[in-house]
Parts: sequence; structure tokens; C-alpha cells
Amino acid sequence: MIRAWFPTLIYCEPLMGNGLDRLNADLAAECRSLRDFDRAGREWSRRNYPGGYTSYASLNELHHFSSTFTRLERRITRHVRSFARALDMDLRGCGIRMTDCWVNIMPPSSAHSLHLHPLSFISGTYYVAAHRRCPGLKFEDPRLDRFMAAPPRLAGARRANLSHVTYPARAGNLILFESWLRHEVPQNRVGAERISISFNYNWA
Ligand SMILES: [Fe+2]
Repeated sequence: MIRAWFPTLIYCEPLMGNGLDRLNADLAAECRSLRDFDRAGREWSRRNYPGGYTSYASLNELHHFSSTFTRLERRITRHVRSFARALDMDLRGCGIRMTDCWVNIMPPSSAHSLHLHPLSFISGTYYVAAHRRCPGLKFEDPRLDRFMAAPPRLAGARRANLSHVTYPARAGNLILFESWLRHEVPQNRVGAERISISFNYNWA
């Protein structure tokens, strides 16, 4: 008998059942005005997020400063609780808290290289605007550096046995993962901006 152990769980669900179009229109407008307003963020993005805009280093607690983002935080927190339950995490009676929340706008030709999210336990992304052919979120097998002499996988291998998996970016969808899991966004090759909101959670 062969069983799978030590799984890597990734959560993907719509944020909510109704009202997504309205919420996304409000969020998209706020994200674009943040970009216009945030000179420090545009400067930082020029050096560290080529071709795109992120408020990661400048305005990264948006859930404390905007009622639209606070509404989003409340919705996301319910999903993070379910994900933590699915992971059988014992939070020792502590609460969970969104610590960072920032905007990413990726125009045509921008990309976001491989990274993880330090200083948090669950992270994720919510998609505000995403053309159906824009790049998804590509995750890397966390054991990749231990494969050593392992042969490559067959062309028709089961998806769970592949070294990478890509989740499509769909407006209204929320993706959650444990913060240590490395991921990237390949180059945006469609002529439309891809807008997402990323966040970190901690427990304490
Ligand atoms: Fe990320």
C-alpha cells in the first residue's frame, strides 16, 4: 500500500457568494488611486518590482486605513480560519491577525519572481482584476532542493506528483498557502492590468 504523507495544502475559493463585482470595482478604483498617490511605492517598485507597482514597502497595512480593505480583511479572515482548521493547526487559544496587506498591479510585460513570505504563518492573494489569459500563481514543490538524482516526471504524471502547480488568477478568488511555500507570477503577456491584493497572517 502506498500513501501520501506530508502534503502541501493550497486553498482556493471565491471570497464570497454575492457582491463580488461591486467589491472588485471599489477595490480596483482604490488600488489605482493608491498607485497615483504613493510616490514612495512607485519609486520602490521601479527598483524592486520592474514594470509594475506594489505597495509592499510603502503602504502595507491597508486594512487599517481603508474601510473597503477592512471589509475585505473580515471576509478573508473567515477563510484563513477554515484553512488553519484544515491544516489541523493548534493555535493554543490564540487569535489570528492580518499583519500586512498590500496592492500589486502588474501591467503587460511585468513579472514577479520566486519568493516566500517571511514573518507570518499563512499568506495569500485575492484577485481584483484578472484577464482570463493573464498569468496565474505558480507554486514550487518545497522539496525541490532535495530531489538530487530523482528522474523527471512523466509527461502524463498525476498533477500532485509534478514539481510546479499553477493556479489561474480569477477575479473574486482567494488563494491561501502556508507562508513558507515559494511562488511566483510569470510575465503578464496580455494587454490588461492584473490587480491583486496580497496579505500575511500571524497568530498570537
Ligand atoms: Fe507572494
